[in-house]
Amino acid sequence: MLLLVGITVAMVVFVVRYRRSRARTTSQAEGHLWLEITWTVLPTLLVTWMFFVGYEGFGLMRRVPADAMVVQVTGRQWSWSFHYPGVGIDSTEMVVPIDQTVKVELTAPPTDVTHSFYIPDFRVKEDVVPGRTTYLWFKAERTGTYDVFCSEFCGKDHSKMLAQMRVVPQEEFRRWLATEQGKRYQPLVFEAVTNPGHETFGPAGININAKSLYLTFCASCHGVNGDGSGLPGQARDFTTSAGWKRSPKVTDIYRILAEGVPGTQMRSFPNLSPWEKVASAHYVRHFLKTAAPADTRQDYDALVQEYGLDKIQPPKPALPIDEAMRLLVEKKQAPTSAAAP
Ligand code: CUA
Repeated sequence: MLLLVGITVAMVVFVVRYRRSRARTTSQAEGHLWLEITWTVLPTLLVTWMFFVGYEGFGLMRRVPADAMVVQVTGRQWSWSFHYPGVGIDSTEMVVPIDQTVKVELTAPPTDVTHSFYIPDFRVKEDVVPGRTTYLWFKAERTGTYDVFCSEFCGKDHSKMLAQMRVVPQEEFRRWLATEQGKRYQPLVFEAVTNPGHETFGPAGININAKSLYLTFCASCHGVNGDGSGLPGQARDFTTSAGWKRSPKVTDIYRILAEGVPGTQMRSFPNLSPWEKVASAHYVRHFLKTAAPADTRQDYDALVQEYGLDKIQPPKPALPIDEAMRLLVEKKQAPTSAAAP
């Protein structure tokens, strides 16, 4: 109302006041040469100077130092996953060593939507575009745990698209790499598949937190309590046997996690290690209130056969970690030299 009345009144007043029948000849203002030269040249110099200052800052952001270690990040509706190329590690948290330049390569699956990778404490942010690779870099100078946000509105659970980044001393990073490799490349054993528990899994000393995996990758559709409340009417309700269209055996859930369900929103999780898939399967199954059929030795052998689970090898060279660190860093330099035709 304020704008409508204000504009209409002003319009009517001007139409009456400046109507043609009242027209007078206006005074003709001549130019002022020096004034015009001044207000042309001064802003031009100022803007040119600002451009070079900005260009320098831009260059600093875009030119990644050659000794950078690469972490590949995939953004999906609604989670982040972190891949350490060269050493074959996938993780749901980002861990980097202190005083090490890190190049973060960002991408999203072609069927996903645009996200934005944002570490507020580091003042770095970059769009994550489906089917493309973008990047940013930083060098952390203090250890600690930092928040990673998605800062591009990407759907229902945009605000839950969070991750943690841990900056740790170099030694601890080496230990973390070794632990993660241990987790990922331990052959799966029958005892894990038939484990009656649903939270703790993994070979000696390496416990996989199944609940945290579930909350990161499954809860946004299937609900925190497995009742499908994340996306009503679409995601499976795991709490009743009616919700299970397929077998609730761990080995069968494993196959769904490995391959997804074609024609549905249920995608595959190729980045989860065999142990992580088994842990997630147990966690998903524990929601079912009624008794589930037990996995047999035969089921296990079939799974091992199907996915070659007895032949899982860390990428070469298998640790030492110093070698792994070298790989992580040099992965970045390789494409640069290969880019020359
Ligand atoms: Cu992803 Cu917002």
